[in-house]
Amino acid sequence: MSDATSNSALGGRFTFPGTTRSVNRVGYGAMRLTGPNIMGLPRDPDEAIAVLREAVERGVDHIDTSDYYGPHTVNELIRKALHPYPPGLTIVTKLGARRPPDGSWQPWISPQNLRDGVQDNLRNLGLEALDIVNYRSMGDGHGATEGSNAEQISTLADLQREGLIRHIGVSNVTHAQIAEAREIVDIVCVQNLFNVVVRNDDALVDGLAADGIAYVPFFPLGGFTPLQSSELNAIASRLGATPMQVALAWLLARSPNILLIPGTSSLEHLRQNLAVTEIELPPWIVAELNGIAAEAVSAG
Ligand SMILES: NC(=O)c1ccc[n+]([C@@H]2O[C@H](COP(=O)([O-])OP(=O)(O)OC[C@H]3O[C@@H](n4cnc5c(N)ncnc54)[C@H](OP(=O)(O)O)[C@@H]3O)[C@@H](O)[C@H]2O)c1
Repeated sequence: MSDATSNSALGGRFTFPGTTRSVNRVGYGAMRLTGPNIMGLPRDPDEAIAVLREAVERGVDHIDTSDYYGPHTVNELIRKALHPYPPGLTIVTKLGARRPPDGSWQPWISPQNLRDGVQDNLRNLGLEALDIVNYRSMGDGHGATEGSNAEQISTLADLQREGLIRHIGVSNVTHAQIAEAREIVDIVCVQNLFNVVVRNDDALVDGLAADGIAYVPFFPLGGFTPLQSSELNAIASRLGATPMQVALAWLLARSPNILLIPGTSSLEHLRQNLAVTEIELPPWIVAELNGIAAEAVSAG
């Protein structure tokens, strides 16, 4: 376990590199507090508020969001549920896209776009400075693709110097894009697609761990395509857990720099997701879970 982590509830503490900011390793992703296609309000806004409040009551101190979820509505729900924010809560947001009324995801990456995005987040969250901002590269719309983000990262560095952003991360990025960003500014976290089945970032996770940088997998439960595996189901029933809980427990066991932000709009699922720290995965079960990815790869 790296120096940046220590044991406690919710998976232990992780301290972002070069900072005094620490969070529990099990956090919460707020993207699901929306209507269909991540647009508008959720079906039950009261339950959304209840989910946010219960997450924090149960010790979650790391919430992932963006002003382009809704757009605006998720940040407005977070503010309604939790403002004034408890001390120690870290809200991580991201920039790089906008959502026109047709629900598409459009790049929003000029220096002025990013400045406007920071102001939108500050206003809708009710903050004077943003704790952590990820620059989310659009890639090809599905995954990361190569290309320079230097102008965008430099703009975030300017906003950090101006006191509007405390710390900076990157999302949906390649090794080269992370290296480029780290040449410009200190990067405290990387948010990419990774889970027990999709393991393209295995080497990246380990490399970032060596440097104490957080790796925050998005779609830890498969996102819009929920994880499905007969092996996962069988292991879960042996452990007396749900398959989704085992998928999260595997991520926690995978590396001490992994922080969880599972997304849910349901109180029942929230409780299940926060309980994963009670699941012990013996090495032979971890080996079986590692095999799921290998089989998924060989199945194409
Ligand atoms: N940087 C990026 O590009 C990016 C992209 C996508 C997401 N994110 C962030 O990552 C977070 C996580 O991703 P995500 O929410 O899209 O996907 P996810 O966490 O992989 O999966 C969320 C889905 O799983 C369901 N679920 C949650 N807990 C469950 C449980 N215990 N049992 C069964 N089903 C469960 C949810 O439905 P219910 O609502 O019914 O529970 C929802 O449909 C997001 O909230 C967002 O903050 C970032």
